[in-house]
Amino acid sequence: MGKRIHGGDVSSFLLAFLWLQLGLTTALTKSAWRTLSGNSPAIIAKGGLSGLFPDSSLYAYRSVSVLSANGTTLWCDVRLTKDSIGICLPDMKLDNCTDIQYYFDKGRRSYKVNGVKTSGWFSVDYNMSDLAPVTLTQAIYSRTDSFDFSGLLILSVDDVVKQVQPSSLWLNIQHDAFYAQHNLNMSNYVLSVSKSVTVNYLSSPELAFLRRIAPSFNNTKTKLIFRFLDKGIKEPSTNRTYGLLLKNLTLIGTFASGILVPKSYIWPVTPDNYLLPSTSIVTDAHKAGLEIYAADFANDNLFSYNYSYDPLAECLSFIDNDLFSVDGVVTDFPTTPSEAIGCFSRLNKSRVDGKPLIISNNGASGDYPDCTDLAYTKAVDDGADVIDCPVQVTQDKILICMSSVDLIEDTTVTKSRYNSRLSVIPKLQSTAGIFTFNLTWNEIQNLKPIISQPLSLYSLMRNPRNKNSGNFTKLSDFLALAINKPLSGILISIENAVFMAEQLRIDVVDAVISALNDAGYNNKTALEVMIQSTDSSVLVKFKQLTKYKLVYKIDEVVGDAIASSIKDIDAFADAVALPKESIYAVNHLFTTEITGLVPKLQAAGLDVYAYVLQNEFVSQPWDFLSDATVEINAYVAGAGVDGIITEFPGTASRYKRNSCAKLQSKKPNYMLPIEAGRLLPMMAPVAQPPALAPMPVLNATDVVEPPFPHVTTPKSSGGAEAPPPTAPPKAPSSGQRQIASLFLALPLVMLSVVHLLV
Ligand SMILES: *[C@@H]1O[C@H](CO)[C@@H](O)[C@H](O)[C@H]1NC(C)=O
Ligand SMILES: *[C@@H]1O[C@H](CO)[C@@H](O)[C@H](O)[C@H]1NC(C)=O
Ligand SMILES: *[C@@H]1O[C@H](CO)[C@@H](O)[C@H](O)[C@H]1NC(C)=O
Ligand SMILES: *[C@@H]1O[C@H](CO)[C@@H](O)[C@H](O)[C@H]1NC(C)=O
Ligand SMILES: *[C@@H]1O[C@H](CO)[C@@H](O)[C@H](O)[C@H]1NC(C)=O
Ligand SMILES: *[C@@H]1O[C@H](CO)[C@@H](O)[C@H](O)[C@H]1NC(C)=O
Ligand SMILES: *[C@@H]1O[C@H](CO)[C@@H](O)[C@H](O)[C@H]1NC(C)=O
Ligand SMILES: *[C@@H]1O[C@H](CO)[C@@H](O)[C@H](O)[C@H]1NC(C)=O
Ligand SMILES: *[C@@H]1O[C@H](CO)[C@@H](O)[C@H](O)[C@H]1NC(C)=O
Ligand SMILES: *[C@@H]1O[C@H](CO)[C@@H](O)[C@H](O)[C@H]1NC(C)=O
Ligand SMILES: *[C@@H]1O[C@H](CO)[C@@H](O)[C@H](O)[C@H]1NC(C)=O
Ligand SMILES: *[C@@H]1O[C@H](CO)[C@@H](O)[C@H](O)[C@H]1NC(C)=O
Repeated sequence: MGKRIHGGDVSSFLLAFLWLQLGLTTALTKSAWRTLSGNSPAIIAKGGLSGLFPDSSLYAYRSVSVLSANGTTLWCDVRLTKDSIGICLPDMKLDNCTDIQYYFDKGRRSYKVNGVKTSGWFSVDYNMSDLAPVTLTQAIYSRTDSFDFSGLLILSVDDVVKQVQPSSLWLNIQHDAFYAQHNLNMSNYVLSVSKSVTVNYLSSPELAFLRRIAPSFNNTKTKLIFRFLDKGIKEPSTNRTYGLLLKNLTLIGTFASGILVPKSYIWPVTPDNYLLPSTSIVTDAHKAGLEIYAADFANDNLFSYNYSYDPLAECLSFIDNDLFSVDGVVTDFPTTPSEAIGCFSRLNKSRVDGKPLIISNNGASGDYPDCTDLAYTKAVDDGADVIDCPVQVTQDKILICMSSVDLIEDTTVTKSRYNSRLSVIPKLQSTAGIFTFNLTWNEIQNLKPIISQPLSLYSLMRNPRNKNSGNFTKLSDFLALAINKPLSGILISIENAVFMAEQLRIDVVDAVISALNDAGYNNKTALEVMIQSTDSSVLVKFKQLTKYKLVYKIDEVVGDAIASSIKDIDAFADAVALPKESIYAVNHLFTTEITGLVPKLQAAGLDVYAYVLQNEFVSQPWDFLSDATVEINAYVAGAGVDGIITEFPGTASRYKRNSCAKLQSKKPNYMLPIEAGRLLPMMAPVAQPPALAPMPVLNATDVVEPPFPHVTTPKSSGGAEAPPPTAPPKAPSSGQRQIASLFLALPLVMLSVVHLLV
């Protein structure tokens, strides 16, 4: 598929191409953005890259220049010390974001803050030299605390400017009245700091404060931004709720040049977290001559299910829709809006051929139950190149697509009248199951599918409204569904073939070949057929009988492979599917290195596919910044894989279409692949993960299997392990899957990258 340039006049083709490129670039730089100014939206890094490093720390601020677009604004939440120095801290309680308790164990105080009694350690009780030894820590429990011992000191606004030299600075000011009670004058501080450093933005949720300082900033470079908090909260100086204040943007325009609103003001969500239509607030603000900035972007937040756990999709909905663009986004992960603005806006929707090949995993199983018609249709619509069917067999010997041989995983069988058909079959799995071959196809159709929930341990549920939607598919349905679709191929995955041959007396290899022939895959379609198995004997048999592309799946994490095992694989396979941790090795959710496996296998002429990629941020090491696109980019641009096996083909397909893909060596910094292992030296030795045992090496014993058995005619005794007479006492009771073992022992987290510092 693809490659359709037939010789001809290459230079005129090139010229046309260049001309097109120029046209595109001009179109994009001029008036493409629906912001107030027409310029691209601003990126504001809240406390720096605070999704990874302690908020407002040197690591967090410095990494922005490496991992975010040029011109990214650094945000500082200003607090005043006893000696009137402005410091950057995400929380007014120092005990929330520093280790101050260890230096001033009797420092807890209770003060009224906006009328609410608040207890903790406050900046107003300390002068700058008191705070000199205090270090910053991660304030959000779900993020990594691995940088808490890196000696990251509290920074004053001046420190940030001197040590980081931001191209743009945003100061957020809150609690003016509180400081006044402690004889500190925030207005005075703001006026004096703006004389020594360039302040590009000054925001506050306090109307009286902004109005008071506004005249001093009239006709300066500094933009004054009124910050809206949640609609029900009362603005302290007027006693009116922010919801009420929103009704009079003209009033805001008398002292501010813009507003900052929680993102739900723009895209509200239902109580069950689905997106409602956008409000008119962006165009209203623009009509009133106000810029509008959206706050609270964090890749590790729970955002609406409509985005399929893809933070880049969320960001694009605020800047790249047909109606409006906000003028800037305030985020803990500035890499994501950098990608959105620089490489993913105004993308052509049509599929792009070539590498990487996007292969679905049970269809678009991040959005719909595995292997249902809905999951397959969505995968096609989302731009997958290849959709996959893991073949299982029913009692009446019908081949179906089902991600597990055990119906308990994928269906509501435990709540059905078939729930007594439990067997223990150690050859298939250690726990009791209700297997596909113990129900007929008609019986299976009486069940409902269950959406996969691989990360439910972290309460990250997939598309709850559709958790039981869709119809099960037979292999023949799947083949018919795929045949006229804009796909480059299909992948049929076959496991337990030897068990099927010996115990069920069905030769699944022959059965799959006839199903493909019956569906016209030999003569009606250009779709490429791929067969995947972890069992080399299955692939060997296919190789003897067909010309299909054969994919050997390695089902354990290995760090290397001995030469003879690669030679063995090469004898029966065209491609290898590798667990993603075999490519980027991971220790306690930090990457440690890129193994040499991909180039080794490619050198032998094998394509390499990485599996299985998911959007949920907990499925990724911290290095990937809780952004599935950063992970995909690492596997494609960094590790050079030929394909990606993913539960969210839409995210991978959009990656393939990104407008920076063709920039080669001129790619912007935030589109460079992460460097594996670069975060480890940024941790104090005490915080580094313990060394791991070396990764196992694939050897010939792992690869070579006895030849595929012949299926004999049924005899009286089949020899399958007999089921126990009664169900075991602890039968699995739900269809929930096990979480990937990688995460079992770990706290909920996030992650990221960084090539600099030190
Ligand atoms: C961003 O800044 C770096 C370093 O100053 C520079 O090399 C690069 O060309 C800039 N990129 C763009 C797109 O302006
Ligand atoms: C700090 O405050 C945030 C927001 O109020 C809260 O989610 C977090 O748990 C607090 N962290 C600590 C260490 O107290
Ligand atoms: C800071 O406060 C401490 C007491 O907390 C005091 O000993 C010290 O002299 C003060 N330093 C300055 C520079 O004011
Ligand atoms: C605070 O500082 C501003 C500007 O220097 C000044 O106009 C104002 O009077 C001061 N307020 C108090 C309460 O001292
Ligand atoms: C800013 O200056 C303009 C005239 O240059 C004046 O009309 C306006 O009222 C001033 N705004 C504020 C907030 O002082
Ligand atoms: C705001 O309202 C509360 C009671 O609702 C009142 O106690 C307080 O004085 C009011 N503050 C202002 C600034 O009007
Ligand atoms: C909005 O505020 C402006 C300026 O303060 C005022 O003139 C106008 O009456 C207000 N409009 C409404 C609907 O409250
Ligand atoms: C979000 O998803 C729900 C459920 O699929 C759908 O009804 C709704 O229209 C979507 N919202 C938007 C704004 O696309
Ligand atoms: C399921 O099928 C296997 C293989 O035919 C058979 O050995 C087993 O007894 C069946 N289990 C039940 C509960 O029917
Ligand atoms: C699922 O199957 C039922 C019954 O065969 C059919 O009515 C329905 O349209 C199918 N749903 C989809 C989404 O194809
Ligand atoms: C395609 O092959 C199938 C089975 O091999 C056959 O039944 C069918 O007639 C063929 N169709 C065409 C158009 O050749
Ligand atoms: C091959 O690896 C397996 C475990 O993966 C090990 O048990 C076996 O000893 C190894 N064989 C050789 C020849 O190294």
